[in-house]
Amino acid sequence: MTKMNELRAKFLNYYRERGHAVIPSSPLVPENDSSTLFTSSGMQPLVPYLLGEKHPAGKRLTDSQKSFRAVDIEEVGDARHTTFFEMLGNWSLGDYFKEEQLPWIFNFLVDEVGLDPAKLYVTVFAGDEKLKIPRDDAAIAIWQKLFAERGINAKIGERIFLYDQKKNWWSRSGEPAQMPAGEPGGPDSEIFYDFGTQLQCHEKSQWKNKQCHPNCDCGRFVEIANSVFMQYQKQADGSFATLQQKNVDYGGGLERLLMAVENKNDVFTTSAFAPLIEILLAETKLSYSAANPLEKKSIRIVADHIRAAVMLMSDGVLPSNKEQGYILRRLLRRAILMADKLQLGDAWLSAAADFLSQQYAEVYPQVKTQNELIKAELEKEAKKFKSTLRNGLKELNKLTEIDGQKAFFLYESCGFPFELTQEIAAQRGLKVDEQAFLQAKMQHQALSKSQSEAKFKGGLADAQAITVQFHTATHLLLAALRKFVKADAYQKGSNITAERARLDFTLDAPLTSEQKQQVEDQINAWIKADLPVKKTMHNKEEALKMVGGSVFADRYPDQVSVYTIEGASQEICVGPHVEHTGEIGPVKIAKEKSVSAGVRRLYLLKAAA
Ligand code: SER
Repeated sequence: MTKMNELRAKFLNYYRERGHAVIPSSPLVPENDSSTLFTSSGMQPLVPYLLGEKHPAGKRLTDSQKSFRAVDIEEVGDARHTTFFEMLGNWSLGDYFKEEQLPWIFNFLVDEVGLDPAKLYVTVFAGDEKLKIPRDDAAIAIWQKLFAERGINAKIGERIFLYDQKKNWWSRSGEPAQMPAGEPGGPDSEIFYDFGTQLQCHEKSQWKNKQCHPNCDCGRFVEIANSVFMQYQKQADGSFATLQQKNVDYGGGLERLLMAVENKNDVFTTSAFAPLIEILLAETKLSYSAANPLEKKSIRIVADHIRAAVMLMSDGVLPSNKEQGYILRRLLRRAILMADKLQLGDAWLSAAADFLSQQYAEVYPQVKTQNELIKAELEKEAKKFKSTLRNGLKELNKLTEIDGQKAFFLYESCGFPFELTQEIAAQRGLKVDEQAFLQAKMQHQALSKSQSEAKFKGGLADAQAITVQFHTATHLLLAALRKFVKADAYQKGSNITAERARLDFTLDAPLTSEQKQQVEDQINAWIKADLPVKKTMHNKEEALKMVGGSVFADRYPDQVSVYTIEGASQEICVGPHVEHTGEIGPVKIAKEKSVSAGVRRLYLLKAAA
């Protein structure tokens, strides 16, 4: 068992022994939430339950959540940022609170993982008068007791550090002022691992001439654990009310924990990355340890980006010029460019995918089962980019200034994501104006404005309501496909925005136009009949029988919710849905295409009433 697998299993087991249900990781692309492109923390798929909805698996949950942070793309290249990571999590949904949480996580780190308590430092919320939220004295007292049990006198300012809302408050949107009304959040308490004496870069940081401390960012301290006491909800008037239940939301990066366990303050030298890097460098004379700083940065970028790309692809993302697909394309093209500079040769992409398929086979089997497909897509994208790379670079190198139109030309004709142009131009001291690029892009798009966009301009309902309507319509679509096209068609994936619903399902051949019409008519008939949509809870086996099986069976927890649209459809799903199908309004099938062998994709749009 690799060290990473061992650590993950240890954590899940520890919390299982403390009454937590182990729930599967949600996919990297949120299933029914179009407000964000990626799952970027463990709590994200659990928001409804933190706000009070009952979770089918109970009040104590634990998981390892695959996470992706696109905002970190630019940061990758240093010793600790990665775009993809796993977040170990445990939650109390109105059950236990800090008196249990802090001792549990501290003892886990010390007794189960074997970290030296003398190397652990903690931070606590200092309180905020304006928000009327007090200093977290309870957490301070718990920490002092826990350290005392290990023979350590934990003084404030030496072992326990107090920070304000910028550092010790957690919500999806950051500090309190940035939170929208309705958003849950709360003070948190973090554990940092001390990698040793103050590092040279401390001298360059804003803390120069000051004592080093957990949040100084010089690299000496690395955050490995974050317990959020999620008990507040932002109100429309900007104040904070207490939630109906006091929750614990714990998250700790698996790879960060591995850094502490292996005592390596460069994540790329841990066992999570070192073997991958060796494979990447196999055809070169380079070694990571002997690489110069520029080479090292490029190697880190290639390693991070290919790992993230493979994980995204295993969750169904393919390179494109939109949304998740665009981010994936950016990652791949940036990695390919760096690999070209490092002269990694031709085999690295496939070799890396093969390695990752083994590394994650046990926990995320789809990385292995889709390995061939992923490799084929990687090669396809590399080929596409490489054929334009030289030309693009030639064009770019000729330019002495890059206006919006030129950046758009490089984007459209040479396949350079804007950020890549910006990065390469910056190396030559050239500035590229993002606004000008966006304007050029918009001018171009205005020419081919989609019908659906135009239709929605009138704004029948808000984006959230439309997304929910499309979600229920997707259930009707699958049911109609089963009725008229293939009785055992299964959903392989879906993606829903306020503009349209997209469903991937198992089928070998395209729909005939007659079938398309039958399916569309059936959905609209069900919508017109204004059927009630009901949610019921069942154990997994019973639910699978009710719905006739599912390709996601191994992702489900023991207790699941089933949505029934009387006389039409029954599916295992977490919602949300409309209450009556009539709320959806008329829809039409827009496009149909093949996604991979045996999988087809259909789009639904709203139709004129
Ligand atoms: N939500 C917190 C985080 O992402 C803890 O899970 O850090």
